[in-house]
Amino acid sequence: MLLFKMNKDFISISHLSPDELELLLKEAQVMKQKRNLALLQGKTIALLFEKPSLRTRLSFEMAMKQLGGQALYLSPQEVGMGKREPIHDVARVLSRYVDGIAARTLLHSTLLTLATYSSVPVINALTDWEHPCQSLADLLTIQEKKGRLSGLNLAYIGDGNNVSNSLMLACSLIGMNFRIASPPGYKINEEILTQSQNFAAISGSKITLSEDPVQSVRGADIVYSDVWVSMGQESETEKRRMAFSRYQVNEALLSLANKDALFMHPLPAHHGEEISVDMLENPHSVVFDQAENRLYAQKAVLVRLLLPDNSEVASV
Ligand code: CP
Ligand code: NVA
Repeated sequence: MLLFKMNKDFISISHLSPDELELLLKEAQVMKQKRNLALLQGKTIALLFEKPSLRTRLSFEMAMKQLGGQALYLSPQEVGMGKREPIHDVARVLSRYVDGIAARTLLHSTLLTLATYSSVPVINALTDWEHPCQSLADLLTIQEKKGRLSGLNLAYIGDGNNVSNSLMLACSLIGMNFRIASPPGYKINEEILTQSQNFAAISGSKITLSEDPVQSVRGADIVYSDVWVSMGQESETEKRRMAFSRYQVNEALLSLANKDALFMHPLPAHHGEEISVDMLENPHSVVFDQAENRLYAQKAVLVRLLLPDNSEVASV
């Protein structure tokens, strides 16, 4: 296995080069094959979460346990980041106790402040801007199911949000074609689009924006959906339900994609909203494999960031 040195933190999927992304995916596969590699014995990470979580919290906790280390969950009420104590003080205090921080923050700027002031690695466990750990697990799942990534067509139906931001960046880095269908007012962010187009110019991937889900899913190898109302947007629920009503992924829409298309969703899902009530049971659905793969993708990230010298990984 080749060696590479990641940045101190894992904030954005775009901070990886295409080669680094490929290697990280290979290492995630190794983690899946060898579940109890005690590479992080004696290491501890703090889970600093300002929003709820099932998958991310549990996969980080299990990842550290299986790697021989431990994870400590810190609730928002306890820490009161930015209220009880300034963010930069929280970062400096945690750096004296733990070897890494996985943070899920309401604002991306909070994560950036944590990373700036912390002397230990900071991992983005979801912000309002990106969800890079999710994209890593998504690519791992697609690679497993399709045997390749480059040249595949992924159609994302819905909100231009944290999940689509990371996914568009990841696809354009790795050479997958990324289509997104969103209603007016909910399109992908311009900055993310420009960055992705720059990556696509190198990788050869094609990026297509549309307002028409039907147009996007035709010929797609993967149909991807996420919630219409992300955490923190609850006050916009009714407005969003109306805006996205034509953007439900259901059997009829999926039938327009390629015959062997995968259906993906990061979960949690709102059944009857962004997906029809039976979508998770659809034979094309790989959502639970996708959820499982969060564990292996994050193990690869943790080992990269917490082992100062990655020679142990190389010898696996
Ligand atoms: N997909 C995901 O991040 O799930 P949680 O919000 O439950 O962690
Ligand atoms: N876009 C969703 C993803 C949840 C994993 C949210 O931010 O709530």
